[in-house]
Amino acid sequence: MDHSHAPVLEALAAYHDSGQTPFTPPGHKQGRGADPRVRDTLGADVFRTDVLAISGLDDRASSGGVLARAQALMADAVGAEHTFFSTCGSSLSIKAAILSVAGPHEKLLVGRDVHKSVVSGLVLAGIRPIWIDPQWDTTHHLAHPPAAEAFAAAFAEHPDARGALVTSPTPYGTCADLTEIARVCHDHGRPVVVDEAWGAHLPFHPRLPTWAMDSGADLCVTSVHKMGSGLEQGSVFHLQGELIDPTVLKAREDLLGTTSPSVLVYAALDGWRRQMVEHGRALFDDALALAASVRSRLGAIDGLRVHGREDFCGPGRATDLDPLQVVVDVSALGTTGYRVTDWVRRHHQVNLHLTDHRRINAQLTHADDEDTAGRLLAAIEDVSAHAEDLRPAPAVEIPSPAALRLEQVMLPRDAHFGRAEQVPWREAAGRISAEMLTPYPPGIPAALPGERLDSEVLRYLRSGVAAGMVVPDAADPEVASVRVAVED
Ligand SMILES: Cc1ncc(COP(=O)(O)O)c(C=O)c1O
Repeated sequence: MDHSHAPVLEALAAYHDSGQTPFTPPGHKQGRGADPRVRDTLGADVFRTDVLAISGLDDRASSGGVLARAQALMADAVGAEHTFFSTCGSSLSIKAAILSVAGPHEKLLVGRDVHKSVVSGLVLAGIRPIWIDPQWDTTHHLAHPPAAEAFAAAFAEHPDARGALVTSPTPYGTCADLTEIARVCHDHGRPVVVDEAWGAHLPFHPRLPTWAMDSGADLCVTSVHKMGSGLEQGSVFHLQGELIDPTVLKAREDLLGTTSPSVLVYAALDGWRRQMVEHGRALFDDALALAASVRSRLGAIDGLRVHGREDFCGPGRATDLDPLQVVVDVSALGTTGYRVTDWVRRHHQVNLHLTDHRRINAQLTHADDEDTAGRLLAAIEDVSAHAEDLRPAPAVEIPSPAALRLEQVMLPRDAHFGRAEQVPWREAAGRISAEMLTPYPPGIPAALPGERLDSEVLRYLRSGVAAGMVVPDAADPEVASVRVAVED
């Protein structure tokens, strides 16, 4: 296929050149109706480009096949059989993916280290999750993706499970043994869905971890806005094999998706594919070299431990690591990731991504260079020099892996929609959670609807919030009280 073309971008240019006059949404009509103050901040081009997808970018019957051609090019670029664009983030894509594998009361094997959007999918669909334990690293207090053997054991116990879902890479950059997990699933004639929200770049460089389709996955979901050049909410599904019907996937996406997709988001997805085909190799050569240099320079700073493959990969841990996720343990500075992240934003205008009780994470992409890396290094060096200002940090009470794994005693859907009450956190131990309690980022629920709460998890969340953890989805984000099911 001719990858020098970008059908969405070309159709946009043609739309403008042909002087179309819309009597359709969006009501701002290419910005003419937008408040000038909004236009000044967002830029006139945002409105100019924000055209209707159907009867705008393409005609009423989509006879130009604009979106279909852009999706086919994306599929060709990565070697998938089918690719679908979504403008509602992987939060929607992953729900559509789950719904195309399992339905109400059916079982799905799911790694417990999933993003909250997966849990929302389980709630909406009424699916019965069979949780697969991640591999706990008790030294570093971190969960790595579940092992293939754990999926095999779960299939042996639940041969009626409709398929499996695994997150890889995790937000920490750690990767599952997807090849082996796919083999286990296929041995049972079942599909594996990979939440590859953090892996949009993986297909485009051989020294990045192997991406889901090359590992044999049936369906994967990526957020092109996370590690690629997509606009926020730009997400893509890739599909291959016979185990998931593309028509079913499309229908399930249609259940959830918007009827007003953003052409801006489509255009950026289309442009990203062309950029990667033409320049991906070179851009990620540079990004990987920069990551290696940033890692070694950060590692030379007092009190920091930069996690590499030696900490995160190996038996009982992850299979691979995306080196662009620069995860740094700051606990030897006597403080928390929360404090470091807040301090560098306040004092250096440097924004870090994932942060937890002992780590920070600087996400590098193909957009970084010596200049941005220099700013990061200066900020972190300064943190090390000012460590005493960040002490003493309130301690977070980390539960043991056993205490962290709550028992699922009710379907997530039943607990979410059933009768519930708000009780003080000290009275919530032993009760069934009716809500998700999710430290964000990374967005992996510590407790979810239908799980029986224990005091260790509650103390973890309470002490976490006191230390700076954010739990935005809780009815009470302070977790001073918790929404629990009313049991008859
Ligand atoms: C593992 C994982 N899956 C899915 C999502 C949802 O992606 P999006 O933000 O594109 O909706 C996230 C977001 O952080 C994530 O970390």
